[in-house]
Amino acid sequence: GRRVTVRDLATAKQRGEKWPMLTAYDSTTAGIFDEAGIPVLLVGDSMGNVHLGYDTTVPVTLDEMTILSAAVVRGTRRALVVGDLPFGSYQEGPVQALRSATRLVKDAGVGAVKLEGGERSLAQTELLVESGIPVMAHLGLTPQSVNAMGYRVQGRSDEDAHRLVRDAKAAQEAGAFAVVLELVPAELAAEVTRSLQVPVIGIGAGPDTDAQVLVWTDMAGLTGGKLPRFVKQYAQLRQTLGDAAKAFAEDVGGAAFPAAEHTFH
Ligand code: KIV
Ligand code: NA
Repeated sequence: GRRVTVRDLATAKQRGEKWPMLTAYDSTTAGIFDEAGIPVLLVGDSMGNVHLGYDTTVPVTLDEMTILSAAVVRGTRRALVVGDLPFGSYQEGPVQALRSATRLVKDAGVGAVKLEGGERSLAQTELLVESGIPVMAHLGLTPQSVNAMGYRVQGRSDEDAHRLVRDAKAAQEAGAFAVVLELVPAELAAEVTRSLQVPVIGIGAGPDTDAQVLVWTDMAGLTGGKLPRFVKQYAQLRQTLGDAAKAFAEDVGGAAFPAAEHTFH
């Protein structure tokens, strides 16, 4: 079969079908999600937090995004793979954005890229779309701007809500095939979802968006520490892995591993 396309996602919105998106950062995990039928995998710059141990997504580089995106593409057959453009790889302008996105498309093989901002990233979106690169916009809480905005629910005042609606329409107008809304009130996300033709993907944006995305390590209970309230854990991998490591340590300490069946003579 062929990979999911941005056109398939437009069709899903017309039919009122909701769909899931997960982040993925490596080929093994991506292959599991692909086989599970997750149609869209995002190589998020959240890999900076999840894999590289940074406090924010700001330090993530295009080289890092390219390596991980290529791994996710190699591990999958059906999913549309979307690669995040990291901070500093598109803010200078459309030409820089095109150079960076081209790298993710050619060297990693992603089917689309994501960038943060509506009106402020308009020229970038337009040039990428004109050049044949599908663009997903990311609005509401935009983690690459954490130093300016912090981590809090966006669009609470009337002015902020109006700006968000304007940004969403601007992104669609510029040719974005989908819009991510992060950490906005459900009512506002519902309004944006109704007013756009393109799919709206929510994270901490309530139940009424066309699609839902979660960071996979949050979704699977691998992330440590306190999780945001919008996360639902569908497994407890942190516990499972910790238990496995302890059992291995015990076996080694007690000379129970390796046993006869693991041993060559
Ligand atoms: O980097 C990321 O994981 C994201 C999603 C949370 C949308 O941008
Ligand atoms: Na991101």
